[in-house]
Amino acid sequence: MTTAQPVPASSTAPSLLPHKLLSGQKALVTGANSGIGRGVAIGLAQAGADVMVNYVVGDEAAAAVVEEICRSGARGSAYQADVSSEDQVSAMFQSMREQFGTVDILVANAGLQRDAAFRDMTLERWNKVLSVNLTGQFLCAREATREFLRRGVVPEVSCAAGKIICMSSVHQEVPWAGHANYASSKGGIKLLMESMAQELAPHRIRVNAIAPGAIRTPINTAAWQTPEAYARLMTLVPYGRIGEPEDIARAAVWLASDHSDYVVGTTLFIDGGMTLYPGFATGG
Ligand code: BGC
Repeated sequence: MTTAQPVPASSTAPSLLPHKLLSGQKALVTGANSGIGRGVAIGLAQAGADVMVNYVVGDEAAAAVVEEICRSGARGSAYQADVSSEDQVSAMFQSMREQFGTVDILVANAGLQRDAAFRDMTLERWNKVLSVNLTGQFLCAREATREFLRRGVVPEVSCAAGKIICMSSVHQEVPWAGHANYASSKGGIKLLMESMAQELAPHRIRVNAIAPGAIRTPINTAAWQTPEAYARLMTLVPYGRIGEPEDIARAAVWLASDHSDYVVGTTLFIDGGMTLYPGFATGG
């Protein structure tokens, strides 16, 4: 009988220091001048990454995010582009390569809501949401993938050739009356992310998603701004508080880092338990 030998520590094992996990990495965050994208861009910078802040409207807000990135000691740059435009996305990645040399991390976050009762849902609203939330992630992920494949793994930087984090939502699972376009876009993200993850893992590209629940951002002010709305929202959140962009940023840092190197094709729900069917806490 042979005795089990201790497994040697991998030479690529990341340091366990929680800070500067992303030193030397270059990140692009879309929709990064407000809300979750802003929080994620700042979080990645605090973890040591240089960050390009994509936005479509709001130069001043984007400049303020870049300022905050620079305060944390990282390099930041703002870039205006509509993620649903193939030409603009391609020019943005070109600029990323010129300014930062490459891209190691894509957080495909840009998204919007154009809510309507189903029978009143115009094609314009449908197309707008699908083209930003779903096609926009496809276009950015495709450009990032091309760059990851071109560059390959640089072991001093990361175990992986690249990381893609898709911003999904609890509504990739939870049907949402009055928001059929939005829920469809996020349902689409689930299988886009999983199909990319399966196809790209052999190239050491890790694709994962984050599915936030109710996070305090401009997209859902109506759900938390008044005490009545907040109380109503809390009936959907077992953990009893709204999420903050930092709750998502910390997870994005981990998913982008080598600490999650074996995490591939997963959706991380960050929702205070919203997907636990809180309506069934009693009864059923
Ligand atoms: C939506 C928010 C909503 C949350 C929980 C998010 O994806 O953008 O408006 O509050 O899901 O329902």
